[in-house]
Amino acid sequence: MDNHLDTIQAEALVALESVHDQDALRAWYAAHLAKKSPLMIALGDLGKLPKEQRAEVGRRANEAKRALEAAYAEREQAIQAETLARALQENAVDVTLPGRRPRPGNLHISTKTLRHIYQVFGEMGFQVYEAPDVETDELNFGLLNMPSYHPARDMWDTFWLDSGALLRTHTSPGQIRAMREMYPNPVRVILPGKCYRYEQITARSEHQFYQIEGLAVGHGITLADLKGTMLNAARRLYGADRIVRFRGSYFPFTEPSVEVDMNCILCDGAGCRVCKYTGWLEIAGSGMVHPVVLRNGGYDPDEWSGFAFGMGLERPLMLKYGIDDIRYFYGNDLRFLRQF
Ligand code: DAH
Repeated sequence: MDNHLDTIQAEALVALESVHDQDALRAWYAAHLAKKSPLMIALGDLGKLPKEQRAEVGRRANEAKRALEAAYAEREQAIQAETLARALQENAVDVTLPGRRPRPGNLHISTKTLRHIYQVFGEMGFQVYEAPDVETDELNFGLLNMPSYHPARDMWDTFWLDSGALLRTHTSPGQIRAMREMYPNPVRVILPGKCYRYEQITARSEHQFYQIEGLAVGHGITLADLKGTMLNAARRLYGADRIVRFRGSYFPFTEPSVEVDMNCILCDGAGCRVCKYTGWLEIAGSGMVHPVVLRNGGYDPDEWSGFAFGMGLERPLMLKYGIDDIRYFYGNDLRFLRQF
């Protein structure tokens, strides 16, 4: 019987030599230590032995069992260590390779340009004044000298909200808000913001875009102040070689009204593709604040005067950078955004 147990133990230990993974280890356990293994059967059969052999054989069987269990545990540890070593080698990271640097984000071209504009006008004493995107008919039109029957309302195709309010079609309503808040002090503000027009979206026109409105109200302000302001802004924003000219125009909220042009940033006025061979680029609508508008803002037009202007943001950028489609500004295409 002792021989039989020796054989069982020896065979099991030999079999364990060729066990190198978890599956094989489990199979080995089933064959040599589980319930129906020869060793366990031998242990179960102890009772069938003659009395005087039982103690000795039982001791020997338990010894064999402990030996196999110990060998099993040792092999299990070895397999785990091997598995870990293999995984480490297979997924090894080559720390000498150059890393991939995470790309920092950058501000949107419109944001950058707005900040530049704030700085340029800030140095001329203009504060930034923000007005809401959702406006009333009265502020967007009525108080700007466009009563409901006024034909000039057709210049702005409007998004109306169910509430009867509207999305501002221009930043000009901010003029009224600024004046009403600042009266009776002189006013010198720029009003940046999104504007919305109910238009077909094309490469040339979006239904959302930025404007920067300007307003100066004081004593003795004239058209010459407007021209000086526009000239300085053009030079600070587009280079020292700029000159500006006024062209007579019409806006309901200014009198007189002018369009401000500057000589072309590409050809300096000689005529090129960018300026459509005119030598000039339009940069703003403007004029002297209409007496009706001054009064609606709380300022007596007999004592106060002022100028106002409204500039687009995207158009000049398109000309400056050769951007041929305004939709890029709102398309969130990283290839576009990362260029600026
Ligand atoms: N609000 C005008 C527009 O959206 C632009 C404009 C013209 C603004 C003349 C002004 C101004 O302040 O004086 O077309």
